[in-house]
Amino acid sequence: MRKVNIFDTTLRDGEQSAGVNLNALEKLEIAKQLERLGVDIMEAGFPASSKGDFQAVKSIAETVKNSSVTGLARTNKKDIDAAWEALKNSEEPRLHVFIATSPIHMTHKLKKTPNEVIESAVEAVKYAKSKFSHVQWSAEDSCRSDKWYLAEIITKVIDAGASVINLPDTVGYRSPEEYGELFRFVQEHVPNIHRVVLSAHCHDDLGMATANSLAAIEAGAGQIEGTINGIGERAGNAALEEIAVALHIRQNFYQAMTTLKLDEVKRSSQLISKLTGMTVPGNKAVVGANAFAHESGIHQDGVLKEATTYEIITPELIGVSSNNLVLGKHSGRHAFKDKVAKLGFELSKERLNEAFEAFKELADKKKEITEDDLFAILTDKQTEA
Ligand code: KIV
Ligand code: ZN
Repeated sequence: MRKVNIFDTTLRDGEQSAGVNLNALEKLEIAKQLERLGVDIMEAGFPASSKGDFQAVKSIAETVKNSSVTGLARTNKKDIDAAWEALKNSEEPRLHVFIATSPIHMTHKLKKTPNEVIESAVEAVKYAKSKFSHVQWSAEDSCRSDKWYLAEIITKVIDAGASVINLPDTVGYRSPEEYGELFRFVQEHVPNIHRVVLSAHCHDDLGMATANSLAAIEAGAGQIEGTINGIGERAGNAALEEIAVALHIRQNFYQAMTTLKLDEVKRSSQLISKLTGMTVPGNKAVVGANAFAHESGIHQDGVLKEATTYEIITPELIGVSSNNLVLGKHSGRHAFKDKVAKLGFELSKERLNEAFEAFKELADKKKEITEDDLFAILTDKQTEA
C-alpha cells in the first residue's frame, strides 16, 4: 500500500474564502487540531501578505511539532525572506513558492515571456534552497499550460533544488481523466522527475476536485493538497476528508493510504466551520449533518437489521458516535418502535399502533419530528385509559 502525503492548506487557500478572516489565535487553534488530525504538512499562511499572517505563521511554526509547517511565497526575494523569517524556527523549514505557467496568466497577469518565467522560477528555487531544507514549487494554472513548456520548466526547477512539484488545477478546469493524463505526461517527459514528489492541488469550480485528486493519485501523485470542509477560493479546494475517507474505504481499489487519524475528522470539520463561520451543508459528503442520517422507512429498516445495507462509512470512523434515524413522514414502524424503546416507553401493541398513526399524521404536517413531539404523543398514549 503506497502512502500519500496530506498537505493541508485550510489556513492559506482555505482562508482565501470570501468573507473568512482568521486572527492569529484562531489560526493557531486550527493548526493544533490539524496536527491532532495528523496532516503531514500544513500551509499556515502567506507571510508576505500581511503582518497578521506573518505572526500567525511564525507562532504556528514555533508550536507545531508533529506536522511540517510551510508558507507561501511568490518568486521574489522579499516574499521568500518574509517566509524564512516566519518559518526558520520550525522543525524542518519548508517553503512553497509558485509562479503561473499558463499563457493566460503569463500574458495578462505577470506580463512576462515564458523564458522570463523560467528564469524567475529557477532563481527563486535556488535562492529558497539556500535557506530552506525543503522547497516545493507550484506551476500555477498548470492545467491550462502548454504541456511541453511545463516539462521544460519542471526539469529546470528540479535541477535548481525543488523536492516537490505541484501541478495545481487552479481554476478547477480539468476532468479526472485529463488531470491524471497530465501527471502521466510529466512522469514520462521530465527526465529528473524521479527525484521529486508530485503533488495535486484541485479546485472545485466544476465540482470535480475530489475526483481529480483521486485521479492524480491513480496516476502517481505522492501528495494531495486541499482543505477541511473543502473551503477555499470561489467554489473551494478539494475536501481532504473526502479524499482520505475514499482512500480508506476503497483501499483495495486505490492501493494507496494516508496516515490521517480519521476519528479526528468530524472534530476538525466542526472547529473549522465554527471559526471560519462557513457552515457545512447538511448533505456534504463525510462531514455533513445528514451524512449518517436515514429518513425513509426502507432505509431505516435496512440499517436497523444491518448497518452496511445503507452505510459504507461507519460514523465511528470519522469520530461520530452513532448514526441517526430521523423520524419524518417517510419513516416506518421499525424505526419508530426502536425510538420508542430508546426513549424508555413501554406500550402495548395496540397503543403502539395508535401512537404510530398519531406520529404519521403529525409527520405529514412537519418536516421533522422532534423528541418533544414524540414525548407528547407517547405520554398521551401511555396515560390513555
Ligand atoms: O490554486 C493554486 O494555483 C494555488 C497556488 C498558489 C498553489 O493555490
Ligand atoms: Zn489553490
